[in-house]
Amino acid sequence: MELDGIDPLQVPVHVGCVMDGNGRWARKRGLPRSEGHDAGEEALFDVVEGALELGIGWFTVYAFSTENWKRPPEEVRYLLGVNQSIITRRLGELHERGVRVRFAGRRDWRVPKRLLRSMDEALERTEANKAMTLTIAFNYGGRAEIVDAVRGLVAEGIRPEKVNEKAIRSHLYLPDMPDPDLVIRTSGEFRISNFLLWELAYSELVFTDVLWPDFRRENLFEAVREFQSRDRRFGGLE
Ligand code: IPE
Ligand code: IPE
Ligand code: MG
Repeated sequence: MELDGIDPLQVPVHVGCVMDGNGRWARKRGLPRSEGHDAGEEALFDVVEGALELGIGWFTVYAFSTENWKRPPEEVRYLLGVNQSIITRRLGELHERGVRVRFAGRRDWRVPKRLLRSMDEALERTEANKAMTLTIAFNYGGRAEIVDAVRGLVAEGIRPEKVNEKAIRSHLYLPDMPDPDLVIRTSGEFRISNFLLWELAYSELVFTDVLWPDFRRENLFEAVREFQSRDRRFGGLE
């Protein structure tokens, strides 16, 4: 019934999601922020199920930004732990559902070796899965991604006249990933916070007041209905 009103032929190919509001969710309940991060896991898995139901082929979630290192060390440590724990505990389930898991972000010295290893294992184990590609943007920044792409081009000795959009795109973290059609941000903030800057040039943006730990597949369906009511022109005319 929740699918009511969604045109199955116009489902977005790629949906991105800025999972925000865990801290406020916890504060409202008089709980420590860490409880909000824990509660985000259920939201994530419910939404992944919903995305599978809709037949969304690509789903990208913002889990940790290049700016999130600015948080107090205990919170950073907690967030690293939450991600590590989700990847190790729930990979089997994602694999069973045919989800291909990938990661976008900088693999720098601040990311624990163990986490990098778990990411590599998740990637390898689910590589051949076809139902959906779930990209976890971890230690990800849109500006860092563009900087890294330019570094790659310069390292190859590219001539200035060869620098074009195609060349930059081919050096992004996941060059084969289609641009997101729809990007959702929870928690009532009207900003992008460095998510997929290059890729979202023509994405439809949907903002919702729902805090991430309360977000469920019905909220995803609602965003998809909103998406389907939009008129995408890509700078052209109808
Ligand atoms: C999102 O929730 C999780 C991350 C950014 C890693 P927040 O921790 O940003 O929660 P708020 O925005 O402070 O409520
Ligand atoms: C964006 O949320 C990053 C993630 C959800 C991982 P933030 O909470 O870090 O963004 P700001 O600080 O509100 O812009
Ligand atoms: Mg936040």
